Amino acid sequence: MSHTAQAEDIARSLLEEPLPRRWAHVQGVADTARGLSGVLGGKAELLTAAAVLHDIGYAPGLRDCGFHPLDGARYLRDVQHADGLLCRLVANHSCAIIEAEQYGLAADLAREFKPAPRGLADALIYCDMTTSPDGQRMTIEQRLADIRARYGPAPPRHQRPPALRTVPGGRDQPRDPSAGRRRPVTLSGPDEQGAHSSELMVRRYDAW
Ligand SMILES: [Fe+2]
Repeated sequence: MSHTAQAEDIARSLLEEPLPRRWAHVQGVADTARGLSGVLGGKAELLTAAAVLHDIGYAPGLRDCGFHPLDGARYLRDVQHADGLLCRLVANHSCAIIEAEQYGLAADLAREFKPAPRGLADALIYCDMTTSPDGQRMTIEQRLADIRARYGPAPPRHQRPPALRTVPGGRDQPRDPSAGRRRPVTLSGPDEQGAHSSELMVRRYDAW
């Protein structure tokens, strides 16, 4: 089985049932990544794997710190023992460090996952930012307008990630050693739209 097929199996198992719209989105992002094979050559498969996996941190069973790039990358590293560069792409996708700073998680992110090479990171941003939440192709301008329309005002600096604001105990919950990884967090939100602020999201992409 190819790396891409394995990545698709992982993403499907985590997203298809609980978050069907997110599953449609990542499939669209992966389709765009496949279309870059003529540019990326041998790196196209890695990019496609990162594209289909980049949002798995939204999966209810994976939420730990509540910041989806970090939760997804930690799962890939600790549970799937995935390729290091693949983990770095997921952890840092779409300028995640900017949003991590707002949640006081930038040091954790930088320590655990170095930024991916610029060319691959930019390619992943391109794929994500030209794909709608439903997996359709759209322009970057349309995507940014959609983000602005869907998300609320910026949170205060160092506010906890959205997921943990609704979870008693949140990140401070003890981990279940028998699970072999961070204890999954059960929560009612955020929904699969995410709960980021439009200002943060747009700043991430403006930084690109
Ligand atoms: Fe995305």
